[in-house]
Amino acid sequence: MKQELNIVEQKYNVNLEDRIAKNGHEPLVIWFTGLSGSGKSTLANVLQNHLFNENKQVYVLDGDNIRSGLNSDLDFSENGRIENIRRISEVAKLLSQAGFIVITAFISPFESDREKAKQIIGSCFREVYIKASIETCETRDVKGLYKKARNGEIKNFTGLDSPFEEPKSPDLIINTSETSIEESLAQLLTLTNKI
Ligand code: ADX
Repeated sequence: MKQELNIVEQKYNVNLEDRIAKNGHEPLVIWFTGLSGSGKSTLANVLQNHLFNENKQVYVLDGDNIRSGLNSDLDFSENGRIENIRRISEVAKLLSQAGFIVITAFISPFESDREKAKQIIGSCFREVYIKASIETCETRDVKGLYKKARNGEIKNFTGLDSPFEEPKSPDLIINTSETSIEESLAQLLTLTNKI
């Protein structure tokens, strides 16, 4: 049985409408999903730069960074990834309630977790599939992790011995082996131009 928590929601005077008026834009959560090395962090960086220079309130939540702090207790097992994405979903929700445009760059390999993220975050959630084949990502191998995984030094590596479930109906697909960074940015801005 669930423990009685005795929690009462507190109300504060500054509300989301006030924040939207101050920022000049609505909040948005742009949820990137894709293999390690597909280009999530690169595009998150470019998009954040662009929006920041337009004086938007923007913040990136990135897998490698969050896993060294908030989620440093989690591993890459199925349960570790599920809890990773659940916590990130809650953090993204809080930041969106604070008025931010949030860009998340996590592999987030499971469809059910992305679906839960959408439920937690609500109507400002947009899913973007940063698409690149496993062969392309392995050729890039920017962090040398595919090599380590092939050598057996890393277990449960996404795309090799841990699954990646492609999104069924994302708001946007960017195929990074065919699309330039400039063109990718232009496509991403079609999401933020509406807020
Ligand atoms: S997720 O699957 O839980 O969404 P997340 O995006 O937080 O993953 O972290 C992925 C990053 O962790 C990768 O870009 C890579 O640098 C590193 N990493 C370390 N071990 C693994 C692994 N077994 N599978 C995938 N990525 C790993």
